Amino acid sequence: MGAGDGGTGLGTLTVAEPCRLSFEGVTKRFGDVIAVDDLTLEVEAGESLVLLGPSGCGKSTALRIMAGLETPTAGVVRIGDRVVNDVDAKDRDVAMVFQSYALYPHLNVRRNIEFPLRSRHVPAEERARLVTSTARSLGLETLLDRKPAQLSGGQRQRVALARAIVRHPRAFLMDEPLSNLDAQLRTEMRAELAELHHRLGVTVLYVTHDQVEAMTMGQRIAVLRDGVLQQVDVPRTVHDRPANAFVAGFIGSPPMNILAGRFDTADGTADGTAEVVVDGGSIPLGPAATAALRRRGLPDVTVGVRPEHLRADPDGTLKVTVALAEYLGYEQHLGCRLPGGGMLTVRLTGTSSALVLGDTLALAVEGDPHLFDPVDGTRIDV
Ligand SMILES: Nc1ncnc2c1ncn2[C@@H]1O[C@H](COP(=O)(O)OP(=O)(O)OP(=O)(O)O)[C@@H](O)[C@H]1O
Ligand SMILES: [Mg+2]
Repeated sequence: MGAGDGGTGLGTLTVAEPCRLSFEGVTKRFGDVIAVDDLTLEVEAGESLVLLGPSGCGKSTALRIMAGLETPTAGVVRIGDRVVNDVDAKDRDVAMVFQSYALYPHLNVRRNIEFPLRSRHVPAEERARLVTSTARSLGLETLLDRKPAQLSGGQRQRVALARAIVRHPRAFLMDEPLSNLDAQLRTEMRAELAELHHRLGVTVLYVTHDQVEAMTMGQRIAVLRDGVLQQVDVPRTVHDRPANAFVAGFIGSPPMNILAGRFDTADGTADGTAEVVVDGGSIPLGPAATAALRRRGLPDVTVGVRPEHLRADPDGTLKVTVALAEYLGYEQHLGCRLPGGGMLTVRLTGTSSALVLGDTLALAVEGDPHLFDPVDGTRIDV
């Protein structure tokens, strides 16, 4: 590497200052459909934020609004400090990477990567230098003379990324860029992308419906449902303290058990604890959870228990029958039938002997269960 090389792995490139991206009260309607509903969200400069939610929740629409490919019905969109509602897509200086990473099949890797530089009339010498260093940072330097048809899926994906990176945009907008890859490549590329983000410190807004991908790629995760932002926080908080029952059920694998519960507000013990009754069993609550439900004063409550927070315990208050058993070696996933007929997913780790269909066991919940309002789903804070 020549003089002036920084520690970025991108050689002598001057990396554009990353900038923040913000949606302020952004709504997008398509006829009767409200694809994005009053979205207020900011991606900090240099941050990698993942927009997560089920199919049709408005992720791509939000991203396309930021890219300038859709016009919002209402609200303000900013890139850096600049309001860009009326700025053309090509003048926004953000790079978009799509799920389908159409490369030019007749051009080799080098020409594919330098395409955006040519169309910006960057001089040849500068182009060569930029292509070489970008290719090196993505491990493509030995593939520059190949055509896309001579590359694996992951290599093609990297060429598409190189093409986006080479012109040093101020932010990247990525819409499910890995969904065309097989499971193993996807895991590899996820790690590479996360590492690349870490190295370049660029601003990334990344769309996926895959919660595992979101947990890997996002410094923060914004969960959308029907166009409405549900929660935005670091992965750990979204997982450990979901803002509502929807987020609770969407994040985590296998998903959280969500049960209808009843709480007797008059019930309780001398030490201030009580229990919540679910589907023919009960779950004991600590003093804080008991107090929270007493304050609320209503009997119906939605109860959430993560499969990993259930353990076999002879004194457990949930008596279940194994209806489904999946032995994975390092752990077992069980589908257990509660006395009332509902199912509980249980993740058992450790050395307990493998359980089989028809076995009965008692389960205890570790810690307090998650508690949600049964009407609007919001978290009942303990
Ligand atoms: N051009 C359009 N015309 C009409 N409706 C649209 C248009 N684009 C999107 N929609 C609707 O807006 C909603 C949000 O779509 P969007 O593509 O943003 O969802 P998404 O979260 O990206 O979903 P997926 O995970 O399936 O890609 C959907 O109900 C969709 O049908
Ligand atoms: Mg989409």
